[in-house]
Amino acid sequence: MAVVAILCAGTAAATGWYISAARPPFSQGDPQFKGAGDAVHGQLIFAAADCASCHATPGEPDRLQLGGGMALGSPFGTFRPPNISPDPVDGIGRWTAVDLANALVGGVSPEHEHYYPAFPYTSFTGMTAGDIRDLYAYLMTLPNVSGRAPPHHPSILFRIRRFVGFWKLLFFREGQSEARLSGEPIHDRGAYLVESVSHCAECHSSRSVFGAIKPDTRFAGGVDPQGTGFVPNITRQNLGKWSERDIAKMLKTGDTPDHGRVGSSMADVVTNTAMLPDSDRNAIARYIKALPAVPTPHP
Ligand code: HEC
Ligand code: HEC
Repeated sequence: MAVVAILCAGTAAATGWYISAARPPFSQGDPQFKGAGDAVHGQLIFAAADCASCHATPGEPDRLQLGGGMALGSPFGTFRPPNISPDPVDGIGRWTAVDLANALVGGVSPEHEHYYPAFPYTSFTGMTAGDIRDLYAYLMTLPNVSGRAPPHHPSILFRIRRFVGFWKLLFFREGQSEARLSGEPIHDRGAYLVESVSHCAECHSSRSVFGAIKPDTRFAGGVDPQGTGFVPNITRQNLGKWSERDIAKMLKTGDTPDHGRVGSSMADVVTNTAMLPDSDRNAIARYIKALPAVPTPHP
């Protein structure tokens, strides 16, 4: 009996170890990432994806100094976005475009470790290879910043990165997007931007005790993960009176139709969406306006 029990426990442990391993989605030399990307287009992806809001050096007026280090609070501990400047020692200067794709699409590091989902790869996973290649080309044009971010302080459960592998098995669908496509090009462009690149639902939803977005609250708002207030519902339940033009205008200027202005983390989002072409803001607005009404969850 004891032998059987030990064998069973051993098999369970080995299976657990195996299934929680981090596997990069792309191998070096993947032809999708060959050749030089278009850094000018990459700059737009960088803006649409709000990368600087998390990775810019705190207190540094130049938002292109991506030294990292900002404290991101969450019920699962405090996380610090790392240095992603092209510095070869402290940043990602030695990375390939494939390494970047594995981080964004798979949440996997070049050392084959899992990233914490405080890095919203749960949305970025739907990004196209072409956009990632262009984003990589742009990142490599930015200034080198030396120095590393302070370490993360994850809660006890996630001290071991391998455990993130179990979280991913339950809550992460690699390469899949939540986009609801309609076949209409503007709507579908908006679907791609909202769901994958601009990751609007990462803030505008409620999360379960495991920190995963509750699907029935997607875009319906939720408690700010940093614990400061409530992020509004952006389905027609709340935005009923906003026209597509109102949403597009807010993404350019920050002004709301009731003569207010968006604040807190949305102000940072607008700094970035303001850099996009009108066509992309209009596409985001079209998709948001088409979302079905979802009641605002009660925290
Ligand atoms: C909501 C905040 C947030 C946003 C937005 C964000 N990141 Fe991050 N990023 C993080 C955090 C936190 C980590 C650390 C994850 C870990 O250590 O497990 C991280 C890690 C990374 C890494 C891994 C670096 C390393 O040294 O291993 C790269 C590369 C990266 N991010 C690039 C980007 C890019 C490019 C964008 C925009 C497309 C972006 N991030 C947007 C929070 C963010
Ligand atoms: C980093 C978190 C974050 C992200 C990402 C984010 N938002 Fe927001 N958003 C907020 C917060 C917080 C507010 C409330 C701002 C305030 O208090 O003034 C807000 C407000 C808004 C409002 C105004 C709602 C109202 O009732 O006044 C709209 C519309 C909106 N966001 C749309 C979007 C869209 C579209 C995206 C994706 C392109 C997006 N947001 C991405 C955090 C975020």
